[in-house]
Amino acid sequence: MLKAAVPLLLEWYRIHKRDLPWRKDRTPYTAFVAELMLQQTRVEAVKERYVRFLARFPSAEALAAASEDEVLKEWEGLGYYSRARNLHAAAKIIAREGFPHTFEGVRALPGAGDYTAGAVSSIALGLPVPAVDGNVVRVLSRLTADEAVQTPQKRGEYAEALSLVFPPETADFTEGLMELGAIVCLPNGAPLCGECPWREICRAHLLGKEENFPVRTEKRERRIEERDVCVLKCGKKYALNRRGKGLLRGLWEFPDLGGVPVAGKTLAVKRAKHVFTHVEWHMTGRLVETETEFGDFTWATAEEIGKKYALPSAFKAFMEWIV
Ligand code: ADE
Repeated sequence: MLKAAVPLLLEWYRIHKRDLPWRKDRTPYTAFVAELMLQQTRVEAVKERYVRFLARFPSAEALAAASEDEVLKEWEGLGYYSRARNLHAAAKIIAREGFPHTFEGVRALPGAGDYTAGAVSSIALGLPVPAVDGNVVRVLSRLTADEAVQTPQKRGEYAEALSLVFPPETADFTEGLMELGAIVCLPNGAPLCGECPWREICRAHLLGKEENFPVRTEKRERRIEERDVCVLKCGKKYALNRRGKGLLRGLWEFPDLGGVPVAGKTLAVKRAKHVFTHVEWHMTGRLVETETEFGDFTWATAEEIGKKYALPSAFKAFMEWIV
């Protein structure tokens, strides 16, 4: 079944592939940048940022020479900031030693798990190594009407099955699987089976049960954290705090004063929610005008905040107060 699926996929991909910026002028470095950005972030959100990132850091050497703050500022809004730190660390290794030539070499770079290392190896190095993420699992579990519950081991099994049928067109094969998941074999009740190159061999489709696959375990719960977001304004300046350890380390935030009242005039109050992978922030924001630049904060103007301080998207709902 998989063997018959390969040529159908390659032919479909050549005709229907999207014109995405990382598919032009590809080098191992640019492929690595793209795959790190695309971890947990949608293609539409990455497109423009990828182009901007490479204009700023066109080579591993250029990225290696930048400061961590510059790299974090350039990454602002993309989320999962450890990716930016990993990419920066990887660039220093690549600038020193050259880009690795093997899957194991790529896998050893900071930020590269099995999926990313497989993607870069097959897309940019021409190696027959699969890249199986949630989208590829969905596509393959439907193709084979796989009733088994999806576990991390299951990804390994899919990767092994793909290794056995890997064609010489390694990049097109890996990106073809991703593309099918992205534009045809959609999740949540919307697959476009009429446009699928596998419509005549897909077991789930032949059973009329695309919806049933992949079979999932129960969802993990997210921890809910109540947060105070205190936007302190004094004249034209706003108080910022640099986050220490843990989530969003090294980025800037509006202070959390645990809801303790602050001397000054409260101009607005607003609730907002931001969902991370393992935590949800339920935020109560308040805009308070104060008489003095008090406390251990960094006080910055709206313009400085825009240019210099990386503020995560979690605070987006409150940015309308920064004028
Ligand atoms: N998602 C992850 N890697 C991708 C790629 N190279 N092209 C399109 N979507 C992707």
